[in-house]
Amino acid sequence: MLAATRAEELRALIAYHNQLYHQQDAPEISDVEYDELVRELKQIELDYPELVTEDSPSQQVGFTPSDLFTPVEHLTPMMSLDNAMSFEELAAWGKRLERYIDTNVEYSCELKMDGLAVSLVYTDGHLTRAATRGDGRVGEDITLNVLQIKGVPHRLKDAPPLVEARGEIYMPVSSFKQLNEEQMLRGERIFANPRNAAAGSLRQKDPQITASRNLSFFAYQLAQAPVNFKDHAETLAYLREQGLPVNPTSKILHSLSEVYDFCQHWQVNRHSNDYEIDGVVVKINDLAQRQELGFTSKAPRWAVAFKFPPEERNTLLKDIMVSIGRSGKATPFAVLEPVFVGGSTVRLATLHNQDQVALKDVRPGDVVIVRKAGDVIPEVVGPVLSKRPEGLPPWEFPKNCPECGGELSRSEGESDTFCTSAECPKQLEQRIVHFASRGCMDIENLGERTVQLFRQLELLRDIGDIYNLDYDRIKLIEGFGEVSINNLRSGIEASKQRPLSNLLSGLGIRHLGATGARVLAKGMHHLDNILRASVDEIGSVEGIGTVIAQSVHEFFQHEDNRQLIERLRSAGVNFEGPKASTLAQTLSGMSIVVTGTLENFSREGAEEAIKERGGKSPGSVSKKTHAVVLGEGPGAAKITKARDLKIPILNEQQFQQLLETGVIPEVSAGDGEGAVVG
Ligand code: IVH
Repeated sequence: MLAATRAEELRALIAYHNQLYHQQDAPEISDVEYDELVRELKQIELDYPELVTEDSPSQQVGFTPSDLFTPVEHLTPMMSLDNAMSFEELAAWGKRLERYIDTNVEYSCELKMDGLAVSLVYTDGHLTRAATRGDGRVGEDITLNVLQIKGVPHRLKDAPPLVEARGEIYMPVSSFKQLNEEQMLRGERIFANPRNAAAGSLRQKDPQITASRNLSFFAYQLAQAPVNFKDHAETLAYLREQGLPVNPTSKILHSLSEVYDFCQHWQVNRHSNDYEIDGVVVKINDLAQRQELGFTSKAPRWAVAFKFPPEERNTLLKDIMVSIGRSGKATPFAVLEPVFVGGSTVRLATLHNQDQVALKDVRPGDVVIVRKAGDVIPEVVGPVLSKRPEGLPPWEFPKNCPECGGELSRSEGESDTFCTSAECPKQLEQRIVHFASRGCMDIENLGERTVQLFRQLELLRDIGDIYNLDYDRIKLIEGFGEVSINNLRSGIEASKQRPLSNLLSGLGIRHLGATGARVLAKGMHHLDNILRASVDEIGSVEGIGTVIAQSVHEFFQHEDNRQLIERLRSAGVNFEGPKASTLAQTLSGMSIVVTGTLENFSREGAEEAIKERGGKSPGSVSKKTHAVVLGEGPGAAKITKARDLKIPILNEQQFQQLLETGVIPEVSAGDGEGAVVG
């Protein structure tokens, strides 16, 4: 058969099945068979490009929307909004209103969803046409795709002759993250933000792609309605009654200062919902007042968009460099032209690993999108391709360690690259910094800068040197007066008493995190026991798996590490872990809060007694608390909370009983003896 004839036939077939699937909900073939038809057509079109037609179902993203979708003229124009970026601009908008209406105004305030505006036309209650905004007058017909979105009803509750609802299609942040993870695994393009992901998912010739993406919808406007409403609040209520999703956060407010508070509140809490917002839309509530206000050439006078400061900005990617961590891990990072975004100036941003750089395809010399949302660490989202200088070469991961020149190597199946040199000075430096850091030996006044300085001056070669510093030489360094030397000394001295788990964390043993270190210290009781133990013995500690056990064992087999341990021992560093309990574990799984002092126990003693019997003794009362023990001078908050939550309150004698038996004595819940707080 001639290719042209087959292409024609395939197009007709695909259109037929599309219609069955989307309009009649009655498909005759499976998705796989459908995909095969599309694939066959695509292949013919690849082989014979002259056979491609404009309306071919094979045409996907990369074409201008007007090539992809049929244009549709909106019944009334879809306008944009004027912006206000500050309270002053909001007030100026308010002032302009006074020329048209009296100042007794109600404002309807809504979140400004960051998605795509759509118009949904329902005739006799059925969704018959969905369109993008386009240029405001003419949009694109995306009906088939919108029919795939779960949150958009195909039918309204009543069947009014004509309703046009407008609103925003968006992708929930959680779905966006998940989609990008999947795209990454498939090696497909990553979306810059939920808005782009929503647009990319909607602007698909194949509605199945839209169907596979989780999109949602909020309606915020009625452009055609069967009833005349009094105000916007009634409009929203009608949309809701008809089964259209309406954002529940909108509020009617009576003054611009209240409006501004609303804007501020949502600016601070902009990430508290599972969808992105970029501002607040402030609308006049009364529809008669809206009529009087009317429109300018491009926007209604009766509404304004209060825009939040952007969390994404473009800036120049000056360079990509590689940093070396304590394990030798080589992490690429972006050196940026400083840019103020999301509340702070961003100069550097991690690029994680080689694959991430390749996937994002960012190149030194690119203009890139930098994103910093709330407390989240800044991120390079991707390049602005339209601004890429011609001939800009892709970035290549260096072959050698920028710190020591040693070989950088990446193992099969791993995403990270490592400096393989055992002598790499940066690794040694970072190991010392880690050892001294918080959560490890927590040595005050021995931060990264000091470590770097001491290493330059050869005062510090490795971790063991920390306890052997030449203070006479340090005295001669500028900036090291008596006070700072004393502080450093006492910081180092104090570190000798840190719990064994901190020491284990500080040694930087691969795979052994803070939790693993705690479990290991508790299970082995002394560092010498760990030094002597076989892999199996280490692995027999509950909570320690074979990977950790092997890594710990291997670490202590190394002669260098053994020597380090001996140096720490002679310096007097604590090797002792928590003692083994010989007591019956009567309280295992229980959480007992102690408040006030008891007669026969100090407060700490009581908590210790609980822990020794396998229980927990946290500092505050919660739903998970099994009982509260009440001593002299208790905390009122704890008692109140215990009463509210109906948690048994025990006196000392009942506590003794509990320790022995593990059974909570009968007391009326939340009302134990002596539970009266003055
Ligand atoms: S009202 C006459 N309300 O913001 C315009 N717009 O330029 C009426 N948007 O792309 C728009 N959330 O899609 C309105 N609650 C909301 C909105 C909202 C997001 C978008 C809209 C348009 C842009 C306004």
